[in-house]
Amino acid sequence: QHRNSVGVAARCALAEQIARLAGDKARSFLDYPEKLGWREKASSQDIVSAADEATEAFIRDTIRQHFPADGIVGEEKGSTSGSSGFLWVIDPIDGTMAYLVGQPNWTVSIAVLHEGEPAIGVVSAPMFHDIYVAQRGKGATLNGKPLSINQDWTIRSTTVGFGGTERAEPRQVGAFVTRLYQEGGVIFRVGSGALMLAYVAANRLAGYYDPTLFCWDCMAGIVLIREAGGLAEFAGDLSFPGEIWAGNRNVFEDLKRISAFSAEGI
Ligand code: IPD
Ligand code: CA
Ligand code: CA
Ligand code: CA
Repeated sequence: QHRNSVGVAARCALAEQIARLAGDKARSFLDYPEKLGWREKASSQDIVSAADEATEAFIRDTIRQHFPADGIVGEEKGSTSGSSGFLWVIDPIDGTMAYLVGQPNWTVSIAVLHEGEPAIGVVSAPMFHDIYVAQRGKGATLNGKPLSINQDWTIRSTTVGFGGTERAEPRQVGAFVTRLYQEGGVIFRVGSGALMLAYVAANRLAGYYDPTLFCWDCMAGIVLIREAGGLAEFAGDLSFPGEIWAGNRNVFEDLKRISAFSAEGI
């Protein structure tokens, strides 16, 4: 038990350091647009650039130097199994589209699972100089200041993050948004799901729903929200995307209900 908590703390410190350096690295590519080399993956809305690949390679190399027995799952370079019980789940640039078109709302997202349970979440938003860090049992912080989710808010108290992409079922997107607005909610969206989840932890959003997020988009945010006193649940797994709901108990349950309603008959 003691050895494990030392292992978690050491990896949390490293995750924070890596997220900062990876953010600097990704940011430095913006000075050389000719080196970005965009290309499509599954669709014109699903793209990757040299910055995504170089930043993920940097993150993987640094993890391997410090913890060679840890497993790693990343968006651009697949999974490497480990033997230590620790698994890093990383997205080098979350919000690639935002990043490539010059919006500031992209992030580096790094989570660590211990024996399958999310234990560390770090989301760095380099263009805002914001870093969100959480370690299981130790709370969540934004730039070192503790975060605590507002337990009185409803879906009407402020906006709700929504992340439906081209992977989502169009009619379900429409039905979800319609129902939310009928109940007095309003959606908010930026290019990074990890950032919107961090916003929930920081009371910058009342909650978040996405019909199809990947583990590397949401694992760090899940730790942040839980450690800030909220609820977050992911219906996907390490290989497949799935729904995610987050907020205080009341908002979480409302988003679950509205999403289930919007999925009916589709
Ligand atoms: C995307 C972002 C976006 C979410 C998509 C993700 P990427 O990640 O998180 O907010 O709506 O589902 O795929 O591809 O920019 O790393
Ligand atoms: Ca992507
Ligand atoms: Ca992502
Ligand atoms: Ca990405």
